[in-house]
Amino acid sequence: MARKAPLIVTLDGPAGVGKSTLAKRLAGELGVAVLDTGAMFRAVAYNLGEGAWDWTQGILQQKLGDFEFSLRGSGKDTELLLGGQPLPEAIRNEETGRWASLLAVVPSVRAHMKMAQIFLGQTTSLVAEGRDMGTVVFPDAAHKFFLDADPDERARRRCRQLESLGKSADFDSIASSIRQRDDQDRNRSIAPLKPAPDALVVDTTHLTENEVLEAVLDRVRGLR
Ligand code: DC
Repeated sequence: MARKAPLIVTLDGPAGVGKSTLAKRLAGELGVAVLDTGAMFRAVAYNLGEGAWDWTQGILQQKLGDFEFSLRGSGKDTELLLGGQPLPEAIRNEETGRWASLLAVVPSVRAHMKMAQIFLGQTTSLVAEGRDMGTVVFPDAAHKFFLDADPDERARRRCRQLESLGKSADFDSIASSIRQRDDQDRNRSIAPLKPAPDALVVDTTHLTENEVLEAVLDRVRGLR
């Protein structure tokens, strides 16, 4: 008997819009894994270090061959492993996010990531979150969502998230970093951040986490 193809749900949107929180809750409801593709770009940026985006394609390609990602578990307990090891917490800092965004414009890096993401989706049902999941990596996904929110609201959410972790948060510098990353992610020539034509766009500026989850689940369950 033919095996059922994995379920793929895509969730794209700009930095700080709440994709990761929603992806974990949605994946939990659906009993599938989360693929945090931003963490993949961050892990590569963190491991290669500052300035890797200026390396020659030959050197980059050789280094990229060393990165092998895998997934373990599902829902909020999904673990993304690199070379069989969990990713360090340091990939989450703002500087690594900026490096990831710069590295993400390099064609060989995008091609490598796309291949790795498709490979994971061939065997594992996923909520795949990122920037180009619905447009480029999983164009045939069963359900596609694009979250958006006002940049200042995204900066406020990021500040609250950092404060809840006991870290200091400076609104102005976070807001400017979010705008800079928006600009880089939306205006690059390959796989720019934009909704797929068949994605449901959800503006979360005035919605609670629960309201966003409900809207998305209704669509997946065919109620909307
Ligand atoms: O979602 P995030 O902030 O962790 O992502 C970090 C950077 O990685 C983001 O600014 C752009 C890049 N990225 C990408 O280009 N494509 C993806 N699918 C995911 C992330």
